[in-house]
Amino acid sequence: MGDASLPEKIPTTMAAMRLIGHGDADQLVFDEAVPTPRPGPDEVLVKVTATAKNNTDRKAREGLYPTKEQGDVTSFAMGGSPTLTFPRIQGADVVGRVVAVGDGVDASRHGERGLLDFNLYADARRDLNLTPDYYGHGADGGFAEYIAVPSAQFHHVANPELKDAELAAMGMCSYQTAYHMVTAAGVKAGERILVTGASGGVGTALIQLCRVVGAIPYALSQQDKAPALLALGAEAVLDRSDMGDFEARVKDVTGGQPIDAVMDLVGGEMTDRFIDAMIFDMAARSSHPRLSIAGASGGNVSEIMWTRIYLYQVQIFGVSHGTREEAEQLVAWIREGRLKPVLHAAFRLSDLHAAEHYFVNRGGHYLGKIVIVPDAEWDVHGAPFSLEGSS
Ligand SMILES: NC(=O)c1ccc[n+]([C@@H]2O[C@H](COP(=O)([O-])OP(=O)(O)OC[C@H]3O[C@@H](n4cnc5c(N)ncnc54)[C@H](OP(=O)(O)O)[C@@H]3O)[C@@H](O)[C@H]2O)c1
Repeated sequence: MGDASLPEKIPTTMAAMRLIGHGDADQLVFDEAVPTPRPGPDEVLVKVTATAKNNTDRKAREGLYPTKEQGDVTSFAMGGSPTLTFPRIQGADVVGRVVAVGDGVDASRHGERGLLDFNLYADARRDLNLTPDYYGHGADGGFAEYIAVPSAQFHHVANPELKDAELAAMGMCSYQTAYHMVTAAGVKAGERILVTGASGGVGTALIQLCRVVGAIPYALSQQDKAPALLALGAEAVLDRSDMGDFEARVKDVTGGQPIDAVMDLVGGEMTDRFIDAMIFDMAARSSHPRLSIAGASGGNVSEIMWTRIYLYQVQIFGVSHGTREEAEQLVAWIREGRLKPVLHAAFRLSDLHAAEHYFVNRGGHYLGKIVIVPDAEWDVHGAPFSLEGSS
């Protein structure tokens, strides 16, 4: 927290949802008397209007990032030691308006509507991010009425056609991860790309980003989501409920050609089938089979035959977050209208428990993101996208 004093119109306390420890959703406590953060040097104070929910909120709460032993309760610790301490305000993908600036920030930023690049970057490098951490994990995030963040990472997005909740649905936790999956695997125009977990926040971003770079996305999802995924840009949708004849079904939709690269968010036992889809005709390929993996919604452990990996020269890219350069490119594409929000519904901040429950138990029609709106902002920024309002 910075040390600048707050302008008079900003209350000294705010409402926030605080995570008080690892565990179930009952570890999330709504508190209406949390000290309002003050902007430090080179920071802006943002009045939050919408913050997207991400899988990582639940995973961090439950301590589900094992990197050594299955069952370990862990959080991000790539910089050396765990950075999640309690109480913590979660929420990575923040949209709001600048209401105060710290020393060194131009006063003209007052009133700007923007989107946060959610990373806690360890250094100033623009092209590399080896110790991923983020607002809502290693520092307080956006499930609150105010947040203080680096001015350089709060990107102005004026675009009046985009409502605040819609802009939050294009938050960097999904979009930057998706774009880094694309760049890590060197995806090129004209390539056939399999996107797994296609209907989720990262998957819907991947489908769009494949089109932006000229690649052809094939979605792995559920049949009732096919129309929406085709409308979003998928070339074809493969049903994940039956993986038995997966290679044959891939050939059906690609005209017999192998998949060039897989953007995998599912992992588990399916990953080996995804490799099948790339290697069945190596003579037809002009590049290495490539697998970018950034999530494991289907399971953290896969059985993979390593002879297949090295004999077929499959390249595997582990992806977590992206770089400053990639965040800035994405913001430019958002400003140009080249990326679209996929917003499922908005929930009130005080109803975050209900949003968590809804997200975990979501049905077949679910696509894209849930966004959380502070109660004081609900009528303007949340109500039009509530489950009732949007149905
Ligand atoms: N590495 C990073 O920095 C980073 C950043 C963001 C997210 N992630 C991870 O990436 C994954 C996707 O994130 P997200 O935000 O897009 O999640 P999401 O919105 O929950 O979407 C995940 C999608 O995966 C599919 N899925 C879920 N369970 C599955 C299962 N058991 N088997 C097969 N498919 C399943 C579903 O899509 P269909 O119904 O369409 O099949 C679901 O919509 C998560 O594991 C998340 O933790 C990682």
